[in-house]
Formats: sequence, structure tokens, C-alpha cells
Amino acid sequence: TKHLLGIKDLTREDLELIFSTADQFKEVINRPIKKVPSLRDITIANIFFENSTRTKLSFELAEKRLSADVINFSSSGSSVKKGETLLDTVNNILSMKVDIIVMRHSSPGASHFLANHIDATILNAGDGTHEHPTQAILDTYSIRERLGTVEGKKVVIVGDILHSRVALSNIFALQKLGAEVMVCGPHTLIPKYIDQLGVRVEHDLRKALEWCDVANMLRIQMERQLVKNFPSVREYSQHFGLNKELLESLDKEIVVMHPGPINRGVEITSDVADCENAIILDQVENGVATRMAALYLLAGKQN
Ligand code: CP
Repeated sequence: TKHLLGIKDLTREDLELIFSTADQFKEVINRPIKKVPSLRDITIANIFFENSTRTKLSFELAEKRLSADVINFSSSGSSVKKGETLLDTVNNILSMKVDIIVMRHSSPGASHFLANHIDATILNAGDGTHEHPTQAILDTYSIRERLGTVEGKKVVIVGDILHSRVALSNIFALQKLGAEVMVCGPHTLIPKYIDQLGVRVEHDLRKALEWCDVANMLRIQMERQLVKNFPSVREYSQHFGLNKELLESLDKEIVVMHPGPINRGVEITSDVADCENAIILDQVENGVATRMAALYLLAGKQN
């Protein structure tokens, strides 16, 4: 395929190729001259129908480091506000001779829809509650970097699994790379289909942390909350928040991850977010090299 729509479509070999390519780009972007000419004459449009800090800036930087021409579109402030459809919007952008579309959208399946209707290469930068493939790539790359391998590691994803595209993409990526996966959260935030995914389920955070090598602490997605009996934020942080006392009471060191943005004091306290065990900013750093790798590999498949 010439698209990156979800981790579900990828093989372990695909992920390992992205990792080894990212290793090379990571070396490049740590040099004084950070740019390579790999995507010269390729034009990329980053189209964001939902807010973003990390994904948007990281894709833009990755594209610029690869010497692509870049245009950025946010639905706020655009003619989407006058009623223009997604397809009309994208077809107008493509008529300006754009080769690759990076899209974030609030509707699950939006990037698949686009891939079925237009000719350009599509990278999914998050489609509603469905998938966020480049987040899972940078997350698993960061585990590999910190622990040497993903194979055989025990990873718990904590929090709002129900609304999280990060959780679903991470589950697929971790399983393909040979990790054991657990999800942990209140019953109201664990989806019914979880049994079909082959992951462990735990509702006690301490037990989950005692089991794992890595804890990925997700943000409570207030913007997607539809569940009526959702615990209050205070109850949530009491039962599922990670604080220093809990982290230090474990009889081993675990790696702490968070995709960002953090609700400090809700899913994770500041002293944990900023401690040695946390690789949160490494994840962001690795977003650039891994997105460079994904773009570079897909650009080679365009024709
Ligand atoms: N992790 C992540 O997708 O962050 P943004 O929403 O800021 O892009």
C-alpha cells in the first residue's frame, strides 16, 4: 500500500523497516546540518481538522528535514467553516499539485474514506477514536530505544482506552512486535470489544504496575466523553493516577510513557512526568525521525 492508515495493516517487518530507517534519520537530525534532500520536489499538505501540537509540528519538521515543500491547513479559519466538504477541500488542495496528504480528523475512518476517493498518498495523523499509527510507531520505537527491544516486554496502557486511538494503535504495534499487552482503567473506559484483541484487562492500577515493564499513561479525553457514569476527575486520579509514592513503592523500575498532552495531576503527577523513569520527551523527539522514516518509505511507493 502507498498509504499509512493504521497499524492494523502493517506487518512486523514493516515496523522494523521503519525503525531501522528512523535510526538513520535520527543520526542525521542530530548533526549540525540536519536536512537531507530525500523528498526534494515532493509537496506535502498537513491538513488538521482537530487540534494538535506534537503531531502537527513533528510532521512539519520531519517534512522540512527531508526537503519537501510543505503547506499547512487547519479547518478552523478555513472554508470548511462555510460548509465545504472534506472531499472538496482535499480535491482543491490536490489541484495545487500536492503529492502527499497528512490528515487528522475527528471521524473514525476519515483517512480510509479519503484513500478510497483520491489518488494521493495519505498518512493518518489520528482519525477520531480509531487509529493514530505514527504515535504507536514513535511509542514502540521509544520502548526499543530505552529497553533494547519490544519483544517480550510487558506493557500496560492505562486510562481512557474506550476513546483512545493511541491505545488501539499501540495494542496492534506492541503485539506485532512481540510484547505482552495489558489495559487498565475503570470499567466505563474499557471497550466491550477488548476481549477480541488478545490483551489482558486489569482494573487495579497497583497490580498492573507490578506486572509491567512499561506503563503508558493516557489522557482522559474530555472532548470525547460520552459515558454518563464516568468517574469524576478526582476519583479517576485517586484510583488510576500515577504518583511518585506509587511509583517508588514498586519493587522494580518501570518506564513511564505518555503520548501528551498531559493533564498534570490527573493521570500522572508532575513529579512522575518529570522524573528519570519518564521518557515522555524522548517520545516527542523520536516523533520526528520516525515520521521522516514513514514519509520517506511511502514517497518511494508513490508510483
Ligand atoms: N500525542 C499527540 O497526538 O499529541 P497532539 O494531539 O498534540 O498532536
